[in-house]
Amino acid sequence: MALGSVGDARLQKEIEELERLFTIDTEKLKKITDHFGHELEKGLTVEGGSIPMNPTWVMSYPTGYETGTYLALDMGGTNLRVCQVTLTDAKSEFDIIQSKYRMPEELKTGDADELWEYIADCLIQFIETHHGDTANIEKLPLGFTFSYPATQNYIDAGILQRWTKGFNIDGVEGQNVVPMFEAALKRRGAPIKLTALINDTTGTLIASAYTDPKMKIGCIFGTGCNAAYMENCGSIPKLAHYNLPPDTPMAINCEWGAFDNEHQVLPRTPYDTAIDRESPRPGQQAFEKMIAGLYLGELFRLVLVDLADNHQVHIFQGQSIGALRKAYSLDSSFLSAIEEDPDKDNLSETADLFQSKLGIRPSKDELKLVRRTAELIGTRAARLSACGVAAISRKKGYKTCHVGADGSVFNKYPHFKSRGAVALREILDWPDKSDPKEEDPIEILAAEDGSGVGAALIAALTLERVKKGNM
Ligand code: GLC
Repeated sequence: MALGSVGDARLQKEIEELERLFTIDTEKLKKITDHFGHELEKGLTVEGGSIPMNPTWVMSYPTGYETGTYLALDMGGTNLRVCQVTLTDAKSEFDIIQSKYRMPEELKTGDADELWEYIADCLIQFIETHHGDTANIEKLPLGFTFSYPATQNYIDAGILQRWTKGFNIDGVEGQNVVPMFEAALKRRGAPIKLTALINDTTGTLIASAYTDPKMKIGCIFGTGCNAAYMENCGSIPKLAHYNLPPDTPMAINCEWGAFDNEHQVLPRTPYDTAIDRESPRPGQQAFEKMIAGLYLGELFRLVLVDLADNHQVHIFQGQSIGALRKAYSLDSSFLSAIEEDPDKDNLSETADLFQSKLGIRPSKDELKLVRRTAELIGTRAARLSACGVAAISRKKGYKTCHVGADGSVFNKYPHFKSRGAVALREILDWPDKSDPKEEDPIEILAAEDGSGVGAALIAALTLERVKKGNM
């Protein structure tokens, strides 16, 4: 491996054991992808499967000629963002103004009313800042990006199937979230009409296709992990009762974080089992818990605590690891920083980080173990994510296309893109490139802003469809 083996034989043995646990070879990636394909199909049937495959009622790609001004509200896993998006007359161009608000941690496991009130407050604050007065905003349609699995019978409704990404708020699951949100707006005297409730992946797909017609899949690799793509209604048995023409397009929010909740194919480590057990929703989001930013730091922390407590090596011996014992105290940016440490010999930045954040002074060999652990966790996440992309591409018969991806892990985690691209190449058996600059047949590229521009576009497409009298 790049860092070479470490001098301490017992540590070296632990590193090799971690490599065994976290490495997923080509053959296994292919098996996972095959199973993924079956599960995508199953999710579209009436009986359903573990992947929800939610129809979103987004029923066309944008042309690039959409116009108008829209509000977009993004309730992701970490931030809350409000945007005003103007789709201009120039093809595929837009202007955007936006404000970001922190999503207070306590709201995620608090009370439903407080959540809706907080979101409504942010929206109103934004409107007051940019319009001075809420009265004249009435005409602006709102696209609400609510990035959780929701059953949509209409584009402006969504029954929350279950909370994901560590949210756990009573009284929302099984309910249509739109009236709850609208009631909070009404109480605040902002008569805003929600035009479309969307998922961040669908927004990403549509926003990316707006500027690049080769974009066929929208992915998020952030706090959570998920994808959307355009299906034909004829391939969605669970929509048969709508009698839509078979070639009608319908964007599907896969909710692929739920892939393999039955534990049939993913090679889970004891650390994955522990994350799941301690999470607010054990047994759910098995795939997401191995990939998404919310969990990467926690996986890493669990490995280190285990090596300090339970293995013969007892890393960090004689030091207090109290800070390291706190669940979710390390986020994926901690791993990013370790993987980015340019000082391969001494890992001096990693050493500083451990000292300042955790009060631990790892030995030189322990630093190498730490670095290797981060690499293994980050690499596994990237390689697994390629299975989902490969499965959708294969299902749709896409031999060449672009995949638009967004989220903190995709944008900030070192080597995530290149590791994912290597895995995709292995899974789909592409021949080696003659020129390294040559594009891969399927490229995962940075997406346009899905929950801002995408939400606005979907609001525009919805209003257009309503005007034409279609459902
Ligand atoms: C979680 C949510 C999903 C969202 C993803 C990325 O998986 O369930 O709706 O798209 O996170 O934010």
